[in-house]
Amino acid sequence: SVLIIDFGSQVTQLIARRVREAGVYSEIVPFQSAEEAFGRLSPKAVILSGGPASTTEMGSPRAPQAVFESGLPVLGICYGEQTMCAQLGGKVEGSDHREFGRAFLEIADECPLFEGVWGKGTRHQVWMSHGDRVTALPPGFRAVATSTGAPFAAIADEARNYYGVQFHPEVVHTPDGAKLLSNFVHKIAGLKGDWTMAAYREQAIEAIRGQVGDGKVICALSGGVDSSVAALLAHEAVGDQLTCILVDHGLMRKDEAAEVVAMFREHYNLPLILVDAADRFVGELEGESDPEKKRKTIGRLFIEVFEEEAKKLGGADFLVQGTLYPDVIESVSFTGGPSVTIKSHHNVGGLPERMNMQLVEPLRELFKDEVRVLGKELGLPDHFIGRHPFPGPGLAIRCPGGVTREKLDILRAADAIYLDEIRKAGLYDAIWQAFAVLLPVQTVGVMGDGRTYEFVCALRAVTSIDGMTADFYHYDMEFLGRAATRIINEVKGINRVVYDVTSKPPGTIEWE
Ligand code: XMP
Repeated sequence: SVLIIDFGSQVTQLIARRVREAGVYSEIVPFQSAEEAFGRLSPKAVILSGGPASTTEMGSPRAPQAVFESGLPVLGICYGEQTMCAQLGGKVEGSDHREFGRAFLEIADECPLFEGVWGKGTRHQVWMSHGDRVTALPPGFRAVATSTGAPFAAIADEARNYYGVQFHPEVVHTPDGAKLLSNFVHKIAGLKGDWTMAAYREQAIEAIRGQVGDGKVICALSGGVDSSVAALLAHEAVGDQLTCILVDHGLMRKDEAAEVVAMFREHYNLPLILVDAADRFVGELEGESDPEKKRKTIGRLFIEVFEEEAKKLGGADFLVQGTLYPDVIESVSFTGGPSVTIKSHHNVGGLPERMNMQLVEPLRELFKDEVRVLGKELGLPDHFIGRHPFPGPGLAIRCPGGVTREKLDILRAADAIYLDEIRKAGLYDAIWQAFAVLLPVQTVGVMGDGRTYEFVCALRAVTSIDGMTADFYHYDMEFLGRAATRIINEVKGINRVVYDVTSKPPGTIEWE
């Protein structure tokens, strides 16, 4: 594997993704625990990430000396290049010629990193983000590329297999960056690109068997991609030692619970208990309009219902969860300050301790797109794998104010029509997430010869890479008109439709 030592860059995760796309397994560790991880993981190559610190400051982070004593290939990116130079006898200085964003690189010499990608004397676009720069190379290194702001924009010590780049090869704004990273792992480190999802599936199944033995396993299936893939892997590993529980909180989309049940029971023959808890959830939510209290109520009820069902089964030793890699990467914190809770996320976090169960998390090492590939590998249909994300608290947070069965039914109908129109227009895959929101506001309308006084439905659609930031989707007006007309004509209870043109930030994707 490749060990990526994180010095706190915003884009460190992308290094791991590019390396994995090259078919080589990679793991990120924060610099604070790099020494221990280096010993434990026995990597075959090391990449030092960028970061916000300056090597010229006292106490700024360094790579473990063991990395340079190991004889392994090392690639330093941005701060990683600077600390490598500082540690190996070169010099780094602050500079008044900062480079941020697009820059151009002149290739000064051939080097294995550029093999088959960039020839001597050519010029290429890269993405830079640095203030400091290397001003003297350590012994053994030579410059292989320069930019206006960085005389040592790429450096190489081929004898020791050490390479440094001041730019960021992991971002898309360095169009050839992925090829350079592929050269580093394949040609320089000599690693084979044999890390595939088929191989991962086998490994994960073995690991689950090893962990679980003949213990009893349960899984909270939500119908989302992550919990579904985790459940299928566990089922392949331990068969009927696994029981899945799907809590229908009455806040799912149209036909959702039934479809999930049909797929898992009939297609996969997976033991699945469907719990109809709609009355309980909706009953408690009816009088509650505070968004955070709604989220907390749903979280608490979910745990209560799940716990009751698990008890009926006679308890379990293990709980399968679809935790993903981005949730487990320890982030490098320089400020250490607490971050503000914008929304309490719904998960089954409290369960394992309460019920004294151990966690089985077969997706802990994967990114979302890798989970989708694995889902395909396990035979999940494309339309299921490609589904938009859906929040745990479901339609309750798309129904601002108190939630009632009547409102949920109206919302479900409008949402289904909206998505049907999106699919018909061929837009589904271009949108990160699209849904209807039922506003607790009634307005006056006229239909036929009569006055109406009904609810307003807001439509939302956003594009996003990871849900952290988002832009509203720019539909053409024809489409919006068509969706609005159908919703008003077909859904009793709605007489007005509006479109949400807020990005995130300042808005969030969901309304609550
Ligand atoms: P926001 O509304 O915070 O949402 O911009 C970002 C992404 O997270 C989803 N979301 C949730 N997912 N449990 C989840 O599993 C939750 O409680 C939850 N709340 C929001 C939201 O749909 C979007 O994709």
